[in-house]
Amino acid sequence: MKILVTGGAGFIGSMFVRLVLDRYSDDSVTTLDLLTYAGNPANLLDVQGDPRHRFVHGDIADAALVDELVAESDAIVNFAAETHVDRSLLDPSAFIRSNVHGVYVLLDAARRHGRRMVQVSTDEVYGDIPEGSFSKEVDALLPRSPYAAAKAGGELFCRSSFVSFNVDVLITRGANTIGPRQYPEKVVPLFVTNALRGEPLPVYGDGLQVRDWLHVEDHAAAINRVLRGGRAGEIYNIGADNERPNIEVVRALLAHLDRPESLIAFVPDRPGHDRRYALDWRKIRDELGWEPRRSFDRTLFDTIDWYVTNDDWWRAIRDGSDTFSNYYQRQYGWRLAAAGRDGETVTTS
Ligand code: TYD
Repeated sequence: MKILVTGGAGFIGSMFVRLVLDRYSDDSVTTLDLLTYAGNPANLLDVQGDPRHRFVHGDIADAALVDELVAESDAIVNFAAETHVDRSLLDPSAFIRSNVHGVYVLLDAARRHGRRMVQVSTDEVYGDIPEGSFSKEVDALLPRSPYAAAKAGGELFCRSSFVSFNVDVLITRGANTIGPRQYPEKVVPLFVTNALRGEPLPVYGDGLQVRDWLHVEDHAAAINRVLRGGRAGEIYNIGADNERPNIEVVRALLAHLDRPESLIAFVPDRPGHDRRYALDWRKIRDELGWEPRRSFDRTLFDTIDWYVTNDDWWRAIRDGSDTFSNYYQRQYGWRLAAAGRDGETVTTS
């Protein structure tokens, strides 16, 4: 199979590219990626030179380019997206372009050429989930952040393309994913790299928000199952049953790195912060036989160890240009100042 992987230079996308090339010797992959701040050619270094992989620098919203690439492919898996809730609160415009319009452009090409498309979405489309309940695929979409609203919008175009035009499109909704090569704005890589630098870990609000933590290799394997065995028009939740309050994750992370809890800084909360996401993922297990392979500890500790070992990868992002530091200052400058922790660097070794 020839697979077009959009957003393949990103965190989950690059893991999926690697999985396909490793496991399926008859498959080939074209990665289409715009290489915005989070897309990183370094994420694909180990497949560079593989004759079954081709990289194309471009935009999923570029209809002519997408049409050409979809025509040459058997299937599309769309990882291309703006993904960070905090950035969507600062400026949602790029989210609407990639997560809604970009998805529409891909769907339109899938329709014209009769191709299967997997849309990689998120548990955040369900919104805040009360203690004791778990979102099912049939539940209402109640997004609460601009990011989640844009992802839900993209999903609704998928649904309408299936219903109106019979496009062979499937949706996955993944839990919070961690692992190698995640841009260090997300909580785990941000906190690991801050801890390694002796800088405070800015915990929003009371730190009792709950997320379900999924390893990126487990997530990529689930998407692969959906691509190869899923039913057209269906939605599949991808969870891990690794629910933890943020503060517990932060304490485990510091203990694993042998850094002091005094690095924790409770800072003003994210507006509209969802307290909990939790998925019922029995459908993908029962229909497609997928299960996560990693426990919570393995998911977290393998992730931490990767950043410890791959210092060059994250230092190039954090120190290589102003992109990261400008964002960091805007997002955390006033929060750390409000907590009395600005300008703090502690020697922890
Ligand atoms: P994040 O990694 O941004 O994922 P999402 O918001 O998509 O779930 O955040 C995970 C949790 O960590 C979320 O409850 C927000 C919290 N968080 C902090 O407390 N401090 C931070 O600096 C960040 C980035 C997140």
